[in-house]
Amino acid sequence: MIEIRDLTKIYDDKAVVDSVSFTVQPGTISCIVGTSGSGKTTLMRMVNRMTEATSGSILIDGQDNGHLPVHELRRKIGYVIQNHGLFPHRTVAENVATVPGLLGWDKPRIAARVNELLALFQLDPAEFGPRYPHELSGGQQQRVGVARALAAEPNILLMDEPFGALDPIIRAKAQNDLLGIQKQFGTTIILVTHDMDEAMRMGDRIAVMDSGKLVQYATPAELLAHPATEFVDAMLGTGDRPFRYLALNTVDRLVEQGMADGAPIAATANRRDALAELLWSGRDVAPVAGDGGAVLGIVRRARLLAEAARPA
Ligand SMILES: Nc1ncnc2c1ncn2[C@@H]1O[C@H](COP(=O)(O)OP(=O)(O)OP(=O)(O)O)[C@@H](O)[C@H]1O
Ligand SMILES: [Mg+2]
Repeated sequence: MIEIRDLTKIYDDKAVVDSVSFTVQPGTISCIVGTSGSGKTTLMRMVNRMTEATSGSILIDGQDNGHLPVHELRRKIGYVIQNHGLFPHRTVAENVATVPGLLGWDKPRIAARVNELLALFQLDPAEFGPRYPHELSGGQQQRVGVARALAAEPNILLMDEPFGALDPIIRAKAQNDLLGIQKQFGTTIILVTHDMDEAMRMGDRIAVMDSGKLVQYATPAELLAHPATEFVDAMLGTGDRPFRYLALNTVDRLVEQGMADGAPIAATANRRDALAELLWSGRDVAPVAGDGGAVLGIVRRARLLAEAARPA
Protein backbone atom coordinates (compact mmCIF):
# COMPACT_ATOMS: atom_id res chain seq x y z
CA MET A 1 0.00 0.00 0.00
CA ILE A 2 1.17 3.52 -0.82
CA GLU A 3 -0.20 6.38 1.26
CA ILE A 4 0.59 9.83 -0.09
CA ARG A 5 -0.10 12.49 2.52
CA ASP A 6 -0.17 16.21 1.94
CA LEU A 7 2.76 15.92 -0.43
CA THR A 8 4.29 19.14 -1.77
CA LYS A 9 7.26 19.89 -4.01
CA ILE A 10 8.35 23.48 -4.48
CA TYR A 11 10.66 24.61 -7.28
CA ASP A 12 11.57 28.29 -7.45
CA ASP A 13 8.76 29.36 -5.08
CA LYS A 14 6.19 27.45 -7.12
CA ALA A 15 4.39 24.36 -5.83
CA VAL A 16 4.60 21.99 -8.79
CA VAL A 17 3.01 19.33 -6.57
CA ASP A 18 0.64 21.00 -4.13
CA SER A 19 -0.62 19.21 -0.98
CA VAL A 20 -1.52 16.00 -2.77
CA SER A 21 -3.02 13.11 -0.78
CA PHE A 22 -4.25 9.73 -1.97
CA THR A 23 -3.85 6.04 -1.18
CA VAL A 24 -3.04 3.21 -3.54
CA GLN A 25 -4.38 -0.11 -2.24
CA PRO A 26 -2.16 -3.20 -2.47
CA GLY A 27 -2.36 -5.08 -5.75
CA THR A 28 -4.17 -2.27 -7.57
CA ILE A 29 -3.25 0.15 -10.35
CA SER A 30 -3.63 3.89 -9.91
CA CYS A 31 -3.17 6.01 -13.01
CA ILE A 32 -2.08 9.63 -12.82
CA VAL A 33 -3.40 11.73 -15.70
CA GLY A 34 -3.12 15.43 -16.40
CA THR A 35 -1.79 17.94 -18.87
CA SER A 36 1.90 18.40 -19.54
CA GLY A 37 3.68 20.08 -16.64
CA SER A 38 0.91 19.32 -14.13
CA GLY A 39 3.38 17.54 -11.81
CA LYS A 40 2.76 13.86 -12.64
CA THR A 41 6.40 12.81 -12.99
CA THR A 42 7.49 14.88 -9.99
CA LEU A 43 4.76 13.29 -7.86
CA MET A 44 5.78 9.80 -8.90
CA ARG A 45 9.50 10.39 -8.43
CA MET A 46 8.91 11.33 -4.81
CA VAL A 47 7.60 7.82 -4.12
CA ASN A 48 11.04 6.24 -4.60
CA ARG A 49 12.84 9.44 -3.57
CA MET A 50 14.45 10.12 -6.89
CA THR A 51 13.07 13.54 -6.05
CA GLU A 52 12.90 14.60 -2.40
CA ALA A 53 9.63 16.08 -1.18
CA THR A 54 9.56 19.63 0.17
CA SER A 55 6.91 18.63 2.72
CA GLY A 56 4.39 15.90 3.43
CA SER A 57 5.03 12.19 3.56
CA ILE A 58 4.69 8.90 1.74
CA LEU A 59 4.07 5.68 3.63
CA ILE A 60 5.02 2.42 1.93
CA ASP A 61 3.28 -0.46 3.68
CA GLY A 62 2.98 1.77 6.71
CA GLN A 63 6.60 2.94 6.76
CA ASP A 64 7.69 6.49 5.97
CA ASN A 65 9.77 6.28 2.79
CA GLY A 66 12.01 9.02 4.21
CA HIS A 67 13.10 6.57 6.88
CA LEU A 68 13.67 3.61 4.55
CA PRO A 69 17.23 3.07 3.28
CA VAL A 70 17.55 3.77 -0.45
CA HIS A 71 18.65 0.20 -1.27
CA GLU A 72 15.44 -1.05 0.28
CA LEU A 73 13.37 1.40 -1.78
CA ARG A 74 15.17 0.12 -4.88
CA ARG A 75 14.28 -3.44 -4.05
CA LYS A 76 10.67 -2.73 -3.16
CA ILE A 77 9.99 -0.29 -5.99
CA GLY A 78 10.58 -0.88 -9.69
CA TYR A 79 10.73 2.10 -11.99
CA VAL A 80 9.96 2.30 -15.70
CA ILE A 81 11.02 5.64 -17.16
CA GLN A 82 9.48 7.63 -19.99
CA ASN A 83 10.70 6.07 -23.32
CA HIS A 84 11.99 2.88 -21.69
CA GLY A 85 15.35 4.42 -20.74
CA LEU A 86 17.41 1.31 -21.48
CA PHE A 87 21.18 1.65 -21.18
CA PRO A 88 22.27 1.71 -24.83
CA HIS A 89 25.73 0.22 -24.25
CA ARG A 90 24.51 -2.69 -22.15
CA THR A 91 22.98 -5.84 -23.57
CA VAL A 92 19.38 -6.77 -22.87
CA ALA A 93 20.53 -9.28 -20.23
CA GLU A 94 22.77 -6.68 -18.58
CA ASN A 95 19.96 -4.15 -18.59
CA VAL A 96 17.58 -6.55 -16.86
CA ALA A 97 20.35 -7.52 -14.38
CA THR A 98 20.92 -3.90 -13.27
CA VAL A 99 19.11 -3.80 -9.93
CA PRO A 100 19.94 -7.39 -8.82
CA GLY A 101 23.59 -6.48 -9.55
CA LEU A 102 23.33 -3.35 -7.40
CA LEU A 103 21.78 -5.44 -4.65
CA GLY A 104 24.71 -7.88 -4.78
CA TRP A 105 22.89 -11.02 -5.91
CA ASP A 106 25.27 -13.82 -6.96
CA LYS A 107 25.78 -14.48 -10.67
CA PRO A 108 23.77 -17.71 -11.02
CA ARG A 109 20.78 -16.14 -9.25
CA ILE A 110 20.93 -13.08 -11.51
CA ALA A 111 21.23 -15.22 -14.65
CA ALA A 112 18.27 -17.36 -13.61
CA ARG A 113 16.15 -14.28 -12.90
CA VAL A 114 17.08 -12.65 -16.23
CA ASN A 115 16.15 -15.81 -18.14
CA GLU A 116 12.89 -16.15 -16.25
CA LEU A 117 11.85 -12.56 -16.96
CA LEU A 118 12.81 -12.56 -20.63
CA ALA A 119 10.81 -15.74 -21.11
CA LEU A 120 7.87 -14.21 -19.25
CA PHE A 121 7.91 -11.30 -21.72
CA GLN A 122 8.12 -13.67 -24.68
CA LEU A 123 11.72 -12.85 -25.51
CA ASP A 124 13.90 -15.93 -26.00
CA PRO A 125 16.84 -15.40 -23.58
CA ALA A 126 19.37 -17.02 -25.92
CA GLU A 127 18.31 -14.81 -28.83
CA PHE A 128 17.56 -11.52 -27.11
CA GLY A 129 19.80 -11.59 -24.01
CA PRO A 130 23.01 -10.73 -25.91
CA ARG A 131 21.41 -8.05 -28.12
CA TYR A 132 21.74 -4.31 -27.60
CA PRO A 133 18.66 -2.08 -27.23
CA HIS A 134 19.03 -0.56 -30.72
CA GLU A 135 18.68 -4.07 -32.15
CA LEU A 136 15.13 -4.34 -30.76
CA SER A 137 11.76 -3.07 -31.96
CA GLY A 138 9.97 -0.42 -29.91
CA GLY A 139 7.64 -3.01 -28.40
CA GLN A 140 10.54 -5.28 -27.47
CA GLN A 141 12.40 -2.37 -25.84
CA GLN A 142 9.27 -1.58 -23.88
CA ARG A 143 9.07 -5.15 -22.59
CA VAL A 144 12.74 -5.14 -21.61
CA GLY A 145 12.15 -1.88 -19.74
CA VAL A 146 9.34 -3.48 -17.71
CA ALA A 147 11.35 -6.70 -17.22
CA ARG A 148 14.24 -4.64 -15.87
CA ALA A 149 11.94 -2.85 -13.44
CA LEU A 150 10.58 -6.18 -12.18
CA ALA A 151 14.01 -7.83 -11.82
CA ALA A 152 14.35 -7.56 -8.04
CA GLU A 153 10.78 -8.75 -7.49
CA PRO A 154 9.45 -5.39 -6.32
CA ASN A 155 5.94 -5.30 -4.97
CA ILE A 156 5.53 -1.75 -6.25
CA LEU A 157 6.05 -0.54 -9.80
CA LEU A 158 6.22 3.10 -10.88
CA MET A 159 5.65 3.63 -14.60
CA ASP A 160 6.06 6.97 -16.36
CA GLU A 161 4.24 6.88 -19.71
CA PRO A 162 5.45 3.31 -20.31
CA PHE A 163 3.49 2.91 -23.53
CA GLY A 164 3.85 6.45 -24.87
CA ALA A 165 6.29 5.54 -27.63
CA LEU A 166 4.30 2.57 -28.95
CA ASP A 167 1.93 2.62 -31.87
CA PRO A 168 -1.73 2.10 -30.90
CA ILE A 169 -2.02 -1.55 -31.87
CA ILE A 170 1.12 -2.68 -30.06
CA ARG A 171 0.12 -0.44 -27.18
CA ALA A 172 -3.11 -2.34 -26.58
CA LYS A 173 -1.18 -5.61 -26.57
CA ALA A 174 1.47 -4.22 -24.20
CA GLN A 175 -1.24 -2.91 -21.86
CA ASN A 176 -2.95 -6.29 -21.74
CA ASP A 177 0.35 -8.09 -21.12
CA LEU A 178 1.08 -5.76 -18.24
CA LEU A 179 -2.37 -6.33 -16.75
CA GLY A 180 -1.75 -10.09 -16.90
CA ILE A 181 1.63 -9.83 -15.22
CA GLN A 182 0.29 -7.42 -12.62
CA LYS A 183 -2.47 -9.89 -11.72
CA GLN A 184 -0.02 -12.79 -11.58
CA PHE A 185 2.40 -11.00 -9.20
CA GLY A 186 -0.13 -8.85 -7.35
CA THR A 187 2.06 -5.81 -8.01
CA THR A 188 0.88 -2.39 -6.84
CA ILE A 189 1.33 0.06 -9.70
CA ILE A 190 1.33 3.83 -10.15
CA LEU A 191 1.19 4.60 -13.86
CA VAL A 192 1.51 8.08 -15.33
CA THR A 193 -0.15 8.69 -18.68
CA HIS A 194 -1.36 11.47 -20.97
CA ASP A 195 -3.94 9.14 -22.38
CA MET A 196 -7.34 8.99 -20.66
CA ASP A 197 -8.26 5.83 -22.58
CA GLU A 198 -5.19 4.13 -21.18
CA ALA A 199 -6.08 5.29 -17.67
CA MET A 200 -9.62 3.93 -18.10
CA ARG A 201 -8.33 0.61 -19.35
CA MET A 202 -5.54 0.14 -16.83
CA GLY A 203 -6.58 2.01 -13.70
CA ASP A 204 -8.51 0.71 -10.72
CA ARG A 205 -8.41 4.35 -9.75
CA ILE A 206 -7.48 7.50 -11.60
CA ALA A 207 -5.80 10.58 -10.12
CA VAL A 208 -6.42 13.70 -12.21
CA MET A 209 -3.75 16.40 -11.78
CA ASP A 210 -4.12 20.04 -12.76
CA SER A 211 -1.35 22.59 -12.06
CA GLY A 212 0.14 20.57 -9.21
CA LYS A 213 -3.19 19.89 -7.53
CA LEU A 214 -5.06 16.61 -7.34
CA VAL A 215 -8.55 17.50 -8.58
CA GLN A 216 -10.12 14.06 -8.38
CA TYR A 217 -9.19 10.54 -7.32
CA ALA A 218 -11.82 7.98 -8.21
CA THR A 219 -12.63 4.79 -10.07
CA PRO A 220 -13.13 5.10 -13.84
CA ALA A 221 -16.89 4.66 -13.42
CA GLU A 222 -17.12 7.32 -10.69
CA LEU A 223 -15.05 9.71 -12.75
CA LEU A 224 -17.37 9.33 -15.73
CA ALA A 225 -20.54 9.57 -13.69
CA HIS A 226 -19.45 12.45 -11.45
CA PRO A 227 -16.53 14.46 -12.81
CA ALA A 228 -15.51 16.74 -9.92
CA THR A 229 -14.64 19.79 -12.02
CA GLU A 230 -14.96 21.15 -15.52
CA PHE A 231 -11.32 20.32 -16.00
CA VAL A 232 -11.96 16.64 -15.30
CA ASP A 233 -14.93 16.77 -17.63
CA ALA A 234 -12.77 18.25 -20.35
CA MET A 235 -10.07 15.63 -19.75
CA LEU A 236 -12.69 12.91 -20.19
CA GLY A 237 -13.85 14.43 -23.46
CA THR A 238 -17.58 14.56 -23.95
CA GLY A 239 -17.78 13.34 -27.55
CA ASP A 240 -17.02 9.67 -27.16
CA ARG A 241 -18.04 9.26 -23.54
CA PRO A 242 -20.57 6.48 -24.30
CA PHE A 243 -17.74 4.51 -25.81
CA ARG A 244 -15.65 4.99 -22.70
CA TYR A 245 -18.46 3.41 -20.68
CA LEU A 246 -18.44 0.58 -23.13
CA ALA A 247 -14.75 -0.01 -22.49
CA LEU A 248 -15.39 -0.61 -18.79
CA ASN A 249 -17.17 -3.93 -19.26
CA THR A 250 -16.41 -7.17 -21.04
CA VAL A 251 -18.42 -8.89 -23.73
CA ASP A 252 -19.28 -12.04 -21.78
CA ARG A 253 -22.57 -10.89 -20.24
CA LEU A 254 -23.93 -9.82 -23.63
CA VAL A 255 -23.49 -13.23 -25.20
CA GLU A 256 -26.63 -14.68 -26.79
CA GLN A 257 -27.26 -18.14 -28.17
CA GLY A 258 -26.66 -18.57 -31.84
CA MET A 259 -24.10 -19.05 -34.58
CA ALA A 260 -22.16 -16.60 -36.69
CA ASP A 261 -19.35 -16.63 -39.21
CA GLY A 262 -16.01 -14.95 -39.01
CA ALA A 263 -13.25 -14.53 -36.48
CA PRO A 264 -14.51 -14.93 -32.90
CA ILE A 265 -14.26 -12.20 -30.29
CA ALA A 266 -12.88 -13.20 -26.87
CA ALA A 267 -15.46 -13.21 -24.07
CA THR A 268 -12.94 -11.24 -22.02
CA ALA A 269 -12.61 -8.49 -24.67
CA ASN A 270 -14.01 -5.13 -23.62
CA ARG A 271 -17.23 -4.05 -25.29
CA ARG A 272 -15.70 -1.12 -27.11
CA ASP A 273 -13.02 -3.29 -28.70
CA ALA A 274 -15.73 -5.77 -29.67
CA LEU A 275 -17.81 -3.02 -31.29
CA ALA A 276 -14.74 -1.70 -33.09
CA GLU A 277 -14.07 -5.19 -34.40
CA LEU A 278 -17.65 -5.56 -35.70
CA LEU A 279 -17.67 -2.13 -37.32
CA TRP A 280 -14.25 -2.70 -38.83
CA SER A 281 -15.15 -6.04 -40.34
CA GLY A 282 -18.62 -4.87 -41.38
CA ARG A 283 -20.44 -7.59 -39.45
CA ASP A 284 -23.76 -7.35 -37.58
CA VAL A 285 -22.90 -10.28 -35.38
CA ALA A 286 -19.80 -12.22 -34.36
CA PRO A 287 -19.12 -15.48 -32.53
CA VAL A 288 -17.75 -15.18 -29.00
CA ALA A 289 -15.09 -17.57 -27.74
CA GLY A 290 -14.22 -18.54 -24.17
CA ASP A 291 -10.80 -19.15 -22.64
CA GLY A 292 -10.09 -22.42 -24.38
CA GLY A 293 -11.36 -21.15 -27.73
CA ALA A 294 -14.73 -22.90 -27.52
CA VAL A 295 -17.55 -20.82 -29.03
CA LEU A 296 -19.97 -19.67 -26.31
CA GLY A 297 -22.49 -17.94 -28.56
CA ILE A 298 -22.74 -14.64 -30.40
CA VAL A 299 -22.68 -10.92 -29.74
CA ARG A 300 -24.73 -8.47 -31.82
CA ARG A 301 -23.61 -5.05 -32.99
CA ALA A 302 -27.05 -3.66 -32.15
CA ARG A 303 -26.74 -4.90 -28.59
CA LEU A 304 -23.34 -3.24 -28.13
CA LEU A 305 -24.67 0.04 -29.55
CA ALA A 306 -27.65 -0.16 -27.20
CA GLU A 307 -25.26 -0.54 -24.26
CA ALA A 308 -23.31 2.50 -25.44
CA ALA A 309 -26.53 4.52 -25.48
CA ARG A 310 -27.49 3.36 -22.00
CA PRO A 311 -24.54 4.16 -19.71
CA ALA A 312 -23.96 3.18 -16.05
N1 LIG B 1 14.30 19.90 -11.42
C1 LIG B 1 13.38 20.85 -11.66
N2 LIG B 1 13.65 22.16 -11.40
C2 LIG B 1 12.73 23.12 -11.62
N3 LIG B 1 11.49 22.88 -12.10
C3 LIG B 1 11.16 21.61 -12.37
C4 LIG B 1 12.08 20.54 -12.17
N4 LIG B 1 11.47 19.37 -12.52
C5 LIG B 1 10.23 19.71 -12.93
N5 LIG B 1 10.04 21.04 -12.85
C6 LIG B 1 8.81 21.77 -13.18
O1 LIG B 1 7.75 21.19 -12.45
C7 LIG B 1 6.55 21.16 -13.22
C8 LIG B 1 6.01 19.74 -13.25
O2 LIG B 1 6.91 18.90 -13.98
P1 LIG B 1 6.62 17.35 -14.22
O3 LIG B 1 7.79 16.80 -14.93
O4 LIG B 1 6.27 16.74 -12.92
O5 LIG B 1 5.34 17.43 -15.16
P2 LIG B 1 4.54 16.25 -15.89
O6 LIG B 1 3.14 16.37 -15.45
O7 LIG B 1 5.23 14.96 -15.68
O8 LIG B 1 4.64 16.70 -17.41
P3 LIG B 1 4.76 15.80 -18.76
O9 LIG B 1 3.39 15.29 -19.01
O10 LIG B 1 5.18 16.84 -19.78
O11 LIG B 1 5.80 14.75 -18.54
C9 LIG B 1 6.92 21.70 -14.59
O12 LIG B 1 6.52 23.04 -14.66
C10 LIG B 1 8.42 21.59 -14.63
O13 LIG B 1 8.98 22.58 -15.43
MG1 LIG C 1 6.25 13.63 -17.05
